[in-house]
Amino acid sequence: MNQLITFEGADGCGKSTQLQLTTAWLRHQGKQVLQTKQPGGTPLGVEIRRLLLSGEFTPIPECELLMFLADRAQHVKEVIQPALQAGVWVLCDRYSDSTLAYQLAARGLDEKLDLTAMLAFAEAGCVPHQTFWFDVSIETAMLRLEKRQQSGEPSNRLDDEAMAFHQRVHQAFGYIYQANQERMIRLDASASIETIQQQIQQIIQKKIRC
Ligand SMILES: Nc1ncnc2c1ncn2[C@@H]1O[C@H](COP(=O)(O)OP(=O)(O)OP(=O)(O)O)[C@@H](O)[C@H]1O
Ligand SMILES: [Mg+2]
Repeated sequence: MNQLITFEGADGCGKSTQLQLTTAWLRHQGKQVLQTKQPGGTPLGVEIRRLLLSGEFTPIPECELLMFLADRAQHVKEVIQPALQAGVWVLCDRYSDSTLAYQLAARGLDEKLDLTAMLAFAEAGCVPHQTFWFDVSIETAMLRLEKRQQSGEPSNRLDDEAMAFHQRVHQAFGYIYQANQERMIRLDASASIETIQQQIQQIIQKKIRC
C-alpha cells in the first residue's frame, strides 16, 4: 500500500538528495510517487516559503510557528490527502518533526506551549507512516552547506541562524527520535550517499513490503 514518508533532519544533512533518489527508485518499481516539500508544496505555500525564508522578514517565533502550520494545513488538504487517497506514494521533505525541532525547541517556545493539538490540527490525520531522520554532526552539515553555497545555491534565513540554534535543533531531533521510535528510522547521515540510499531501500522493502 502507498505511504506518506517524511525526510527529516538538520540543514544540510542530505534530506533532499535522498528524497530524490528514493523517488527515482520507487518510480522504477512502478509506483506512482509525489515528491513534495514543506514549506512550499502548494502555490500558496510557495508564497509562505518566500515570506519565511527569503530573509526579507524576521517573524517573531509565534508568527513563524503559525506560518509553518498554515503552510502544512494547506499542503495536507490540497496535495497530500488527495494523493494518498489516489494511491500515490508521498515523499515529503520536512514535516511536523521539523516544526517541533526548529519552531518549538530551538526557538524556546516549548516552555510556553503544548503544540501537540496544533500539530495534529495542521496534519488533519495525515500522520507519516515512516520518517527517516538523517542524523549528522552539525560540523559535517555545515561543511556540506558551505560546499553547496560555493556551487551557487544561496543559504536561507534559517540556515543563517547562529550555531547555538543549530545545536538546539540537533538535540531536539534526538529527543523527537527517542519519543517516536515506532515511526522514525535514524540513519547515520555521515555515510556516503550510496550507502544511505541502500539502507533506505532495504528499510522500505522490509518494513513497508514494497
Ligand atoms: N551522504 C553525503 N555525503 C556527502 N555529501 C552529501 C551527502 N548527502 C548530501 N550531500 C551533499 O551535501 C549538500 C546538502 O545536501 P542536501 O541538499 O540533500 O541536504 P538537505 O538536508 O536537503 O539540506 P537543507 O535542509 O538545506 O535543504 C549537497 O551539496 C549534497 O550533494
Ligand atoms: Mg533540502
